[in-house]
Amino acid sequence: MKLTQSLSRMQQTALKWRSEGIKIALVPTMGFLHEGHLSLMRHARRSVGRKGKVITSIYVNPTQFGPGEDYGRYPRDIRADKTRCREMGVDMLFLPDNASMYPSSSSGLPYSCFVKEKRLTSGMEGASRPTHFEGVTTVVAKLFLITQPHYSVFGAKDFQQARVIEKMTSDLNFPIQIIIAPTLREADGLAMSSRNKYLSKPERLQAPALWNAIQSARDSVKNANNGFIPVNQLRKKLIKQITQSADMEVDYIEFFDSETLVPVKKVSTTARMAVAARLGAVRLIDNASLDPASPY
Ligand code: PAJ
Repeated sequence: MKLTQSLSRMQQTALKWRSEGIKIALVPTMGFLHEGHLSLMRHARRSVGRKGKVITSIYVNPTQFGPGEDYGRYPRDIRADKTRCREMGVDMLFLPDNASMYPSSSSGLPYSCFVKEKRLTSGMEGASRPTHFEGVTTVVAKLFLITQPHYSVFGAKDFQQARVIEKMTSDLNFPIQIIIAPTLREADGLAMSSRNKYLSKPERLQAPALWNAIQSARDSVKNANNGFIPVNQLRKKLIKQITQSADMEVDYIEFFDSETLVPVKKVSTTARMAVAARLGAVRLIDNASLDPASPY
């Protein structure tokens, strides 16, 4: 496995691979890798084949964290991450740093370009974390230009993020195919996340409440008389269920169309549900289609 911190070395390597007709797949991450991340690397390998190149980037991107969020204490374990990537057969591990991604005034004018998606970012995570998606689209656009991939893989765990990246890719004409991979879960249904490490033992036991709420929503729409349930009725029921079974403060529960992210008026199996809640110091998110047969 090759490894570089240098933006120019990464870009030159990728351009050389491209000129030789080699297919490239990028898996952008913020590290502290878990099985969910590794599954994206498997999708990446499948997309480019044995002769292609899989690049994983690890970069805790400061511009996507708001003031008071967990940028400073985001979990890091670069040694373990390197081992994981090597074991997964990653060809190149890209580890940029802040000074090269967002140069300060020490090297001329400070960094000043940002990419903003204006439609899909208005609700849910975008409403709760107003500067978050601009940071995500900016860093992902930069990673795309530096690593020149034919494919890039994102997890359905962050469904809104994956859709926003797809929209940016199509609106800005990046010649890249975005692959969305299913959410990997622990045995009790909790969606794997680097942030799960923050949970205390008692919190960890309560954390599956979000997945349990999604399962309840699936049951409710399946058993609804005419196949539909009013949004407010279902939301109220699920908030009650979550707060009675866990010491959580629900941030939002939304039901929306998987393609457009537009909220639905009545909930049926064609809708998708997303939920965010605070459990102690940890903010957890989860989402799924309300059609249990859906792949993610
Ligand atoms: P990070 O949270 O490290 O996640 C990297 C990728 O792994 C994302 O596409 C995310 O959706 C996916 N992922 C996380 N948990 C998963 C799970 N349980 N199952 C499947 N996939 C999972 O998301 C980011 O980093 C950043 O915003 C990034 C895109 C790297 C930009 O900085």
